[in-house]
Amino acid sequence: MGAAAWWRRGVIYQLYPRSFMDGDGDGVGDLPGVLARLDHLTWLGVDALWLSPVYPSPMADFGYDVSDYRGVDPLFGTLDDLDRLIASAHGRGLRVLLDWVPNHTSDQHPWFLASRSGRGDPRRDWYVWRDPRPGGGPPSNWIDYTGRSSWRWDEATGQYYYRAFTDAQPDLNWRNPEVQEAMFETLRFWLRRGVDGFRIDVLSLLVEDDQLRDNPPNPHYRPGEDFPYMRELSVWNVDRPETRELAAHIRKVVDEFDDRVLLAELVLPLEQTVAYYGPDGRGIQVPFNFELLTAAWEARGIAGYVDRYLAAIPPGGWPNWVLGNHDVSRVASRVGPAQARVAAMLLLTLPGTPVLYQGDELGLADVPIPPDQARDPIANLIPGRGRDPERTPLPWDDGPGAGFTSGRPWLPLGEANQARHVAGQRHDPASMLTLHRRLLRLRRRVPALHAGAYQPVEADGDVLAYLRTAGDARWLVALNLGPGPARLALPGPERAGRVACSTHPGRDGAAAGGGCGQLELGGDEGVVVELG
Ligand code: GLC
Repeated sequence: MGAAAWWRRGVIYQLYPRSFMDGDGDGVGDLPGVLARLDHLTWLGVDALWLSPVYPSPMADFGYDVSDYRGVDPLFGTLDDLDRLIASAHGRGLRVLLDWVPNHTSDQHPWFLASRSGRGDPRRDWYVWRDPRPGGGPPSNWIDYTGRSSWRWDEATGQYYYRAFTDAQPDLNWRNPEVQEAMFETLRFWLRRGVDGFRIDVLSLLVEDDQLRDNPPNPHYRPGEDFPYMRELSVWNVDRPETRELAAHIRKVVDEFDDRVLLAELVLPLEQTVAYYGPDGRGIQVPFNFELLTAAWEARGIAGYVDRYLAAIPPGGWPNWVLGNHDVSRVASRVGPAQARVAAMLLLTLPGTPVLYQGDELGLADVPIPPDQARDPIANLIPGRGRDPERTPLPWDDGPGAGFTSGRPWLPLGEANQARHVAGQRHDPASMLTLHRRLLRLRRRVPALHAGAYQPVEADGDVLAYLRTAGDARWLVALNLGPGPARLALPGPERAGRVACSTHPGRDGAAAGGGCGQLELGGDEGVVVELG
């Protein structure tokens, strides 16, 4: 796979179908809605869509509880709609990735219904069933994200089943070769239909220790601050060696088809994350790099992380950056609206594949959801941690339902977000949407930005600066992560250049550096400068 692979050059857009566009007025986004708005994405200038799950599902975890891996939930449309979407996207030069959820199924999946029906059922071993410990109680001390036991007692058959998430999401037994083959077939099913790859859900949780050894306590756990699952070090049920081997196997299946890609959610420390690239790059091409989701917004810390991350990537690997997703607070709420513009410039100019979350291109903020309107199961299980605020529908215009729906939206759009609608931002040269479009176009046009080398530039205070270079072309990115003005000595030999894009309207095209070789940055300003 050369440096020219589409997913290396390109930008991936995470499309959350429930909230993108509602085509039938039931208040929930759907595939006909996506089809109707595809032009927005080509206009914006992204290269691929990753669709969060659209499979049949009881929606206990909004599609991350799959009851049929080969279909489309009626809520979202039909298989024909998805075929049409793939064809239509391809016709516009857009790739389509699906979300693949291999760790667990829905408890309503026919496999689990069979497995649960009796100890002698042929599918019993497709899930992780165990007897109580001698003396009683769950077979190991492993806990789920709420801090409760990951084992669920099944009265009828007198055994526990293992589930890392909710009771409605039993874990598949990936040690069973029949499970492996059945799941690989679901990949082939979609690859044959033309999908360009998959985002793999919680890949690191695929296999658990066969001896069920107890996890040790986490000495650094901060009760009340950390997620309850962090009470334990999940060494025996997360990132097992067997899971890394399976990752390489999954890659082989996908490589039976040309030019496809795998993205994977891992949620592991850096060294463990990069292990999933696999030897000689034969593992996952895009093991998500989640650092920017939690990093303190501070230039030195981020610069240090970029260096550590790039150094840790094994030969054959390619970096990637994630700034938001459907599980974490929105970037505009994490760093504030002014810095969200700087963050967009960072995401789209760092070396590697950027993953842009739906709505971040509009500067959407978290929408506070009153407890009685909460939809996410986590909102009930861990108060204050629900993920509804970052999943609210996109505002398209200032009409009824914000152009998203003619019905009642499944989550409120939020007054502030409603004012950030697409129609209003499209022609506003100062808008967040215009900034994204300009950055995406610039990135696509300039090889140094999508494929060039990266070199850090020394800077003072809260300025993060780096060069992107290809051949003779030298581009400087200078980001002021603080609210006060700052300056940066332009790197030599040129010591001068032209501002190709600023987060502050009105500066594009201006000379940078002047006679003194100093670049002046406004508070919260980021610039991309073509040197020379
Ligand atoms: C992943 C998904 C999340 C889901 C969980 C269980 O973390 O991103 O939304 O709840 O897996 O499938």
